Amino acid sequence: MNTFPEIPEEYILRYAGAENELLHEIYRFSNAQLLYGQMVSGHLQGRLLSMLSHMIRPRRILEIGTFTGYSALCLAEGLGPEGRLDTIEVNDEMAEIAAGFFRRSPLEPQIRLHVGDALELIPKFEDTYDLVFIDGAKNQYASYYDVVYPVTKTPGYILADNVLWYGKASGSETGTDPATTAIRNFNDKIASDKRVQQIILPIRDGLMVVRK
Ligand SMILES: C[S@@+](CC[C@H](N)C(=O)[O-])C[C@H]1O[C@@H](n2cnc3c(N)ncnc32)[C@H](O)[C@@H]1O
Repeated sequence: MNTFPEIPEEYILRYAGAENELLHEIYRFSNAQLLYGQMVSGHLQGRLLSMLSHMIRPRRILEIGTFTGYSALCLAEGLGPEGRLDTIEVNDEMAEIAAGFFRRSPLEPQIRLHVGDALELIPKFEDTYDLVFIDGAKNQYASYYDVVYPVTKTPGYILADNVLWYGKASGSETGTDPATTAIRNFNDKIASDKRVQQIILPIRDGLMVVRK
């Protein structure tokens, strides 16, 4: 997804700051070895997540959907020395892969990887969060919002990935696939929630930024 199709992504990336070697390896591993490797955040979105995290300076970050750990490592860059990131992955094989990459990062002591369904685990967590990143199953986005809203601090921020859903969310087609319907419902749900302010950044597949 590129809002300005005439601008080559290489130009934007030239000014995004480099991704470190470990992140580059995770990106290459995900794309070369995994069936849905393109789910990994990648260079541009990773640098955006890092920038947002540095701006917010969170003490606590919550992530739904660890996958290979790329976005968790980018978000963790903005943590202060006392900060911690909780990331949840339902697929234990993916969690094992992510754990292996986390062990090679100096940020590993600040990351807690939880294996299980975010919808079941989050209500049991005792922390509250300055920053939440929703990037799990698209058909569960509205439910994720309902469980993370109470554990998000005020002020606090919720980010949600893929809210443009390859351009399908904004299309006028009816009878579309369940993920498209779910993303449309999620975007409408946020827009009608008077407790928050929100904006979609049309970067990559669309990043919703919600301020509570
Ligand atoms: C799009 S990928 C995450 C990509 C990763 N955040 C990144 O940017 O590199 C989605 C991940 O969410 C996981 N997932 C799906 N449903 C989940 C749930 N209910 N709880 C926790 N993880 C879930 C999937 O197994 C998958 O690894």
